[in-house]
Amino acid sequence: MKKYLVIGNPIEHSLSPKLHNYWFNLYNIDSLYKKKEVQETDLEKIISQVKENKISGINVTVPFKKTIIKYLDTLSEVAKKTQSVNTIFMHKNKIYGHNTDCKGFERSLIETGFNTIGKTAFIIGAGGVTSSIILALEISGVKKIYISNRTKQKVEEIKKIFPKIEIIEWGKKPSQFDIVINTTSVGLKEKDEIEIDFTDCNNKLFYDLIYSMKTKFLKNREKTNYTKDGIAMFAYQAQEAFECWEGFKPNINEKLWEILKN
Ligand code: ATR
Repeated sequence: MKKYLVIGNPIEHSLSPKLHNYWFNLYNIDSLYKKKEVQETDLEKIISQVKENKISGINVTVPFKKTIIKYLDTLSEVAKKTQSVNTIFMHKNKIYGHNTDCKGFERSLIETGFNTIGKTAFIIGAGGVTSSIILALEISGVKKIYISNRTKQKVEEIKKIFPKIEIIEWGKKPSQFDIVINTTSVGLKEKDEIEIDFTDCNNKLFYDLIYSMKTKFLKNREKTNYTKDGIAMFAYQAQEAFECWEGFKPNINEKLWEILKN
């Protein structure tokens, strides 16, 4: 039996095992996918287990998407550009790191039906997934990207990779934008809400990467704007990871959405 893992800290909330085990079961693949809470000091050993073929593939989540890179042999173009890895496997005898968050977000954005060509986006947050969102927006034809983060230093690091993005002071918003994306963890606790005043916004796309619940960020905007939560991006990034490991794209159907929502 092949073994797969998602590693991170915390990891309790991860729905990845549910999703991948559903697919393994559906396609009669003799594999098991587990979650494992790890510390940074565990990373090297876990990667060596991939080299030794004890683990067939790994997904990486917060906060190790960047720190894992130093233990890998080669990176895909997307992983290089974003400096973020969420999918690992052996390829041509080398430990290969790829980023499926970017394509996952891009596909979910197409699904909204919202026209992104020539539009302006405002990204809130500068965590491990943010560079994937920026690249996906650029690929989607977005012409201007503003970004704001509580800790300014982190957003300045991202600007080194994407020099065209414009930094906005924390708590403020750009004077004009069409899409706003929450990439922070604010909203995971039901009471929490991002402290930026969006009350005057209409007909914009509010996208929250959080997928485990409907956040206040979305709830408070539903009547006057378009909203999208992170569940589709989550499913699409998993679908591409599965394809890297097993060589075919697994099906995303109604049953799968139901499993994820319950
Ligand atoms: P990491 O940065 O380790 O990858 P992450 O969960 O991907 O972790 O990112 C957390 C994001 O949520 C960051 O943008 C973080 O802002 P800081 O860089 O200032 O820490 C943001 N975040 C978390 N809690 C927050 C809060 N209470 N208010 C504002 N931003 C918050």
